[in-house]
Amino acid sequence: MEKNEFKLMWEDMQKAGYFSNHPHYSDHYGQEPTEQEQELDNKLLALDFSTNDICMPVPYSDALERSVKRTEAIWLNQMFSLPKAGVALDIGCGFGRSVSWMCQQYDQVIGTDISAEVISTARQRCAELENAVFYVNEADSLPAEIEPNSIDVAYIFTVFQHVPREYALEILKNAERVLKKDGQVVFNLIANINENVNDGKIDTEWAIGYSEEQALALLEQANLKLNKIVKWFRPETETCWLWVSAFSE
Ligand SMILES: C[S@@+](CC[C@H](N)C(=O)[O-])C[C@H]1O[C@@H](n2cnc3c(N)ncnc32)[C@H](O)[C@@H]1O
Repeated sequence: MEKNEFKLMWEDMQKAGYFSNHPHYSDHYGQEPTEQEQELDNKLLALDFSTNDICMPVPYSDALERSVKRTEAIWLNQMFSLPKAGVALDIGCGFGRSVSWMCQQYDQVIGTDISAEVISTARQRCAELENAVFYVNEADSLPAEIEPNSIDVAYIFTVFQHVPREYALEILKNAERVLKKDGQVVFNLIANINENVNDGKIDTEWAIGYSEEQALALLEQANLKLNKIVKWFRPETETCWLWVSAFSE
């Protein structure tokens, strides 16, 4: 899909209430987690996130997606030993969900998203966070305000399955450019599904998948050095998440 058409697609989806209507984000739009959901959080956090193969405790559901997001600050740090200070970048930050907890861990947090609409929401929702700043980026590049060699950790969560491969690669190349030497990039991919497709129907949140080989090829082309790949699988399906951490050299 052409760059501007892709940007417009996200802008339209955001204007139509992408996050507020989405069952994976309802915690942030007024819904309190139930007792059962809190139990799921505990089950998730009981997993050993230091291993490379992690089996989710329950079959896939919207509740599992929400639980993963609620507990993100904990398991993410366990999985990758992230830096505990410095400058963090959240690419495809949406309304600033992750930026909110990242602001407690980092000196400065930069959130960027392709949609001006959602960046405006993020600025409002995170107005009290003095160390957060937000910018709009293009499908295949990062904002000029982010200097080369300035970022300690770049995070890209639940973005690349929605992005044509050529743009995902350019975003990773740009992440490498802005990372400090030995800076870390962390992202997730969906695997064992749609590993040959590169688009879909507008509004369907395409699921563009990557095999482990394709994930490694992305890193090589972006000049990033693999740190760790962690597979999150589920007993009921072949489809899984690949969590990738890599360093800038
Ligand atoms: C599924 S949401 C995830 C949001 C956020 N990472 C979170 O976990 O709460 C995907 C986000 O990626 C953004 N996006 C899509 N393509 C992008 C691109 N090329 N660069 C930056 N953001 C992009 C969308 O606007 C949307 O906010």
